[in-house]
Amino acid sequence: MLSRVVAARGLLAQTPVLTAVRCSSTKTPLMKKFSIYRWDPEKPGDKPHQQTYEIDLNDCGPMVLDALIKIKNEVDPTLTFRRSCREGICGSCSMNIDGTNNLACLCPITRDGSEMKIRPLPHMYVVKDLVPDMTNFYQQYKAIEPWLQTSKQPEDGKEFLQSIADRKKLDGMYECILCACCSTSCPSYWWNGDKYLGPAALMQARRWMADSRDERKTERMDRLRDPFSMYRCHTIMNCTKACPKHLNPGKAIAEIKRDMAM
Ligand code: SF4
Ligand code: SF4
Ligand code: FES
Repeated sequence: MLSRVVAARGLLAQTPVLTAVRCSSTKTPLMKKFSIYRWDPEKPGDKPHQQTYEIDLNDCGPMVLDALIKIKNEVDPTLTFRRSCREGICGSCSMNIDGTNNLACLCPITRDGSEMKIRPLPHMYVVKDLVPDMTNFYQQYKAIEPWLQTSKQPEDGKEFLQSIADRKKLDGMYECILCACCSTSCPSYWWNGDKYLGPAALMQARRWMADSRDERKTERMDRLRDPFSMYRCHTIMNCTKACPKHLNPGKAIAEIKRDMAM
């Protein structure tokens, strides 16, 4: 059974602070607190709560992901989160940090003495701790058919070539790492996430519509002609503000709307 994230509403109980005991540094300790969302569905009776951990930043890398790894290694091995690349490429460490969706590996630990609050991506079902259930998000990506569709064969029998100008039209969209920071910051997605595709999937729909090699632009647009799939976007632009890769899904959606109105 999955639990919805309610952390943003500040309803979660606090538990005693857990502190890293190992200290390999001879410097004056630079202690930092992290309040982290915890919930283990396999622990009978466990309820979502915030657990505070304290670590010495003298002995820690600069990013929030470094702190999470240090906490897991030295304080609490049960803390669960996703990560892989550690450099903003895989998209797996997305979470809500101090109220903003971000990649933990690209988010510096603040040095102002305040406690950092870390929660799963908002309005997602939670599998455990900081791990959201991405099933619906990936199904929506699959629904836009994110692959090249053409009846032609490559002229050289190997690959479909593009002009430099046509290739450039994909810039700002192909770089998406599907971290879901944008979709889970979108109010329309919060309330209609089962029917509204959300900015991440829609930007990838646009990416294939803009591809000079693809022959299914009309069909791709026709699939979005209903009240929910795309038209739930009200151009609030939270998505663009949230993107840790500095992409602009709000603009991509606006371009689809423009093309569909022509
Ligand atoms: S611009 Fe559209 S997709 Fe982006 S946050 Fe606003 S409603 Fe959501
Ligand atoms: S557009 Fe940006 S925020 Fe959205 S999924 Fe792609 S990389 Fe993540
Ligand atoms: S660990 Fe891959 S994006 Fe953060």
